[in-house]
Amino acid sequence: MSKREHGLCFKKYCSLTSWLLYCCCFFINIVNGYSIKNCTVRGSLKYSQNINVFCDKRSLCFVPGNIPDKTTYLDISDNVIQKIIKEYFSQLDNLRSLNVRHNKIKDVEEGAFSSLGALQELNLANNRLTDILGGMFQNLGNLTVLQLNENSITNISISSFSPLISLRKVNLSRNLLKKISKVQPLFLLPQLQELQIGSNGFTYFQTSEVSNISLRLKVLDLFQNPLKEFSITANIFPHLDSLNLAFITENMTWDVQDNRYLQSVQHLNLSGIQLPLEKITDLLQTLNSSLVSLKLHFLGDVKVRAFIRNVCLISPLKFLGLQWNNITSISKDEMQFCTHLAELDLSNNRLYSVPAVVSSLPGLYFLDLTFNNIKNISRVDFANLTQLRTLQIYSNDISFVEELAFNDLKKLATLMIGSNKISFNGYFKKDLQKLESLDLANNKLDSVHKGDFDSLKSLKNLSLPDNQISFIEAGSFSRLTNLIFLNLQSNKLSQSSINTSVFSRLPNLKTLLLNNNYISYDSQDNLAQPPFKHLKKLKTLNIFSQGHKGMRYLPSNLFQGLRYLEELQAENLNINSLHPDTFNYTPYLWALDLSRNEFISLTTKIFLPLQVLKTLHLSKTGLQSLEFLINANLSKLHLLHVSKNALSVINETLIQSLPTLIYLDLRGNYLSCDCTNAWFVNWTIRSNDTEVESAFELTCNYPDKLKGHKLLDLDVGSCNVDVGFFCFISTFTLLSVTLLGSFLFHFLKWQVIYAYYLFLDFLHDNKQQGKPNGLQYDAFISYNVHDELWVMRELLPQLEGEQGWKLCLHHRDFEPGKPIMDNIVDGIYSSRKTICVISRHYLESEWCSREIQVASFRLFDEKKDVLILVFLENIPSHQLSPYYRMKRLIQKKTYLSWPKPGEDTRFFWQKLRVALETKGTSEMDHPIGWDFGVI
Ligand SMILES: *[C@@H]1O[C@H](CO)[C@@H](O)[C@H](O)[C@H]1NC(C)=O
Ligand SMILES: *[C@@H]1O[C@H](CO)[C@@H](O)[C@H](O)[C@H]1NC(C)=O
Ligand SMILES: *[C@@H]1O[C@H](CO)[C@@H](O)[C@H](O)[C@H]1NC(C)=O
Ligand SMILES: *[C@@H]1O[C@H](CO)[C@@H](O)[C@H](O)[C@H]1NC(C)=O
Ligand SMILES: *[C@@H]1O[C@H](CO)[C@@H](O)[C@H](O)[C@H]1NC(C)=O
Ligand SMILES: *[C@@H]1O[C@H](CO)[C@@H](O)[C@H](O)[C@H]1NC(C)=O
Repeated sequence: MSKREHGLCFKKYCSLTSWLLYCCCFFINIVNGYSIKNCTVRGSLKYSQNINVFCDKRSLCFVPGNIPDKTTYLDISDNVIQKIIKEYFSQLDNLRSLNVRHNKIKDVEEGAFSSLGALQELNLANNRLTDILGGMFQNLGNLTVLQLNENSITNISISSFSPLISLRKVNLSRNLLKKISKVQPLFLLPQLQELQIGSNGFTYFQTSEVSNISLRLKVLDLFQNPLKEFSITANIFPHLDSLNLAFITENMTWDVQDNRYLQSVQHLNLSGIQLPLEKITDLLQTLNSSLVSLKLHFLGDVKVRAFIRNVCLISPLKFLGLQWNNITSISKDEMQFCTHLAELDLSNNRLYSVPAVVSSLPGLYFLDLTFNNIKNISRVDFANLTQLRTLQIYSNDISFVEELAFNDLKKLATLMIGSNKISFNGYFKKDLQKLESLDLANNKLDSVHKGDFDSLKSLKNLSLPDNQISFIEAGSFSRLTNLIFLNLQSNKLSQSSINTSVFSRLPNLKTLLLNNNYISYDSQDNLAQPPFKHLKKLKTLNIFSQGHKGMRYLPSNLFQGLRYLEELQAENLNINSLHPDTFNYTPYLWALDLSRNEFISLTTKIFLPLQVLKTLHLSKTGLQSLEFLINANLSKLHLLHVSKNALSVINETLIQSLPTLIYLDLRGNYLSCDCTNAWFVNWTIRSNDTEVESAFELTCNYPDKLKGHKLLDLDVGSCNVDVGFFCFISTFTLLSVTLLGSFLFHFLKWQVIYAYYLFLDFLHDNKQQGKPNGLQYDAFISYNVHDELWVMRELLPQLEGEQGWKLCLHHRDFEPGKPIMDNIVDGIYSSRKTICVISRHYLESEWCSREIQVASFRLFDEKKDVLILVFLENIPSHQLSPYYRMKRLIQKKTYLSWPKPGEDTRFFWQKLRVALETKGTSEMDHPIGWDFGVI
């Protein structure tokens, strides 16, 4: 088995295991669960018509047998499968697309795909196929796309393609075919439109070998073949639109007997072709009447220049591609007959300025000058280009743009000028009234000023990421009333740079990206001027990853005004808590990402306003429980991501409270492999509607002896014993005992509890035997989550930092996955003292009072003063009434009060030090209003 998992499989082994697996999976298949071994399932019949199964990149040497019957897309690419056998796909009759790219397939059993009558796309690229045998594609009458590229195919059986009556596209590039006659049957398929047979060993292409009747073919790709002859002697390609002859390495004979034979070819690729000039010119002449688009990449400066004049004589030509030719400049003369050109691609050359020819091509509507060395843009560069719609000039060296340089670009809609050295923004004050998209990413801008974008009245998208903008003057965007998308990510914006007036006049803005800046707040207090108040139509807001410190707090009204917000990304902000009102303003939020924050607690109330939430990310947030979701009423939640937390138990109540859940990611938690998770294990396997991500890979963290085992291997059978009679008897007995017990308990409650803890203690002592002293910590800290900030910011630095004690804190030192009660008992008994941090919250919390109980029983039991009570607030005695009874059991204690704000804390710390040092006797310090005297 482990061999299989590591993908080191040999042929024999492979087929044996897949056979075995097959037999087992037959039974598993009945369940048809959504969490299946080795694969991930996306989609659900309940919510969509598609079920996509991904088994890619898993070192599989077989196709898993438990793929759901209704699967519509199956991806098993990037594995090490060597053979396709018939059984693999025998029940997938809904499959529309199958991807087995990049495996080691040599053999395909006859009829292997014959159950896949609905299949439309089959990708077998990048395998080790050598022969395409007769029965390989049986029954694939609906297949439209077939990828066989990057194999080692030398032989194709005549009958193999005949079932493919719907086939439109075939890619056979990068194989070892030598004769066109081998692929001849393909040409005759009634629907075939695109055929890629580039990079094979074809030396001749002669239509006489292909067909005697005219075909439907539209695309013929012959790139990189050692063609000696290209001969068209009959009109079999009346519909051919695109012909690729790039990188033909030989001195090919071009034999087109009648110019009409290729009269519909509009797109021609002659990049890197090794023909002499005269031959290229001849070749172009045959296509003179129809050619619209011509690619001449990788030919070199000299060759291109030599015949560019002739190229321009092709009157229908609209697109000319001249990439990768080392061109440094082109004069007006060289292309004087090219005035009909509409698109010119000069990217990836060595231009140091905009070539002079550009302004003499007034018909241009697309110009690509990216990846050159252009330094400046002058006033004449784009003169006369009144038709230009798109100008791409990113990734150059531009630092200066002359005034009025864009003056003639009256129709320009898209300007991409990113990745240059522009440090000044004032180029857009007057011109470009029709501009819709402006991309200034990755330049050297440090501020935005009022008026900078004033003329861009049509602008819809403005991208300014990866600059150094730290200042945005109020009103800078105020004329951009049509703006929909604003990207300011990866700049140096702080909270003061994004005040309300910056975004006040963007009534149509839908997307605002502010991530990776330096926005940070000092508290959750209401902001006087919430920054997004006027963005009434905003749908997407990204604020994740701010500076080194993070955003730290989300002010409770930060999102005020964002009534129609749908997606919020707020991960990695170093926030510990959320104000319950945070999302009150965003009732239509459906995707929320809060992952990578270290939350101390999350409450139900935070999520209550989010009634349409569909996706929630809470990965890596330190969660120990998802209890807060139970009553949050997230009835529309589809996807829940809670990986990399400290969750140990997922119980039924939680899952039932999420009725529409279809995906749950729990990877990297500390799951308990005991009966507490029995229901979850059963559900994971049985559920038809929810996929638990990599369910079969989830491992146990508790109990120790099962650490590292797989959760789903847990034997849950022993968790629910239900044998009728036995049940009746035991219920009866139990009932009697319970009645008696509760009767006793009512009168002798504290004695019973005490006895219980004595018993725990007894067990504990037995465990501790043999350990020297057994005391791992100086103090166990018992506190409520609401006081965690105080513990982390005040107590911990002082006691561990200054005074050097070793403390046991539950969120830090509790063993994940172990039941809470065991953790508490172990924590208390392996610490010399127990410090209870007492506040109102503390007294309301049940766990904490249990902690007090254990500690007080220990105190009673060991007759040592182990308990130190620290009062964080003044608590009136009536609030302590539930604890009266417990007080009777506490004989000795130390209590201290945390000084009021502004008072000196040194005295307090000193007293705490003394209390921690004492071995047995107690310190007394009576808090005001505290009635806790010795009884
Ligand atoms: C093939 O496609 C047609 C039309 O979409 C459909 O009616 C037919 O059922 C399909 N064949 C199979 C075997 O699914
Ligand atoms: C065909 O296969 C070649 C070689 O793998 C690849 O480069 C090309 O993009 C493919 N073309 C199509 C249209 O799939
Ligand atoms: C075309 O016709 C000729 C003569 O009739 C025949 O020899 C040849 O095999 C045919 N070619 C194809 C591809 O059908
Ligand atoms: C713009 O076009 C006019 C006439 O079409 C021409 O005279 C002028 O030189 C051109 N301007 C530039 C800068 O090429
Ligand atoms: C699940 O956990 C919650 C909170 O801990 C609890 O209230 C509930 O009773 C549990 N449900 C089940 C079925 O155990
Ligand atoms: C899942 O589907 C199967 C077959 O359709 C059904 O028998 C089973 O009860 C379903 N399981 C659940 C948990 O709904």
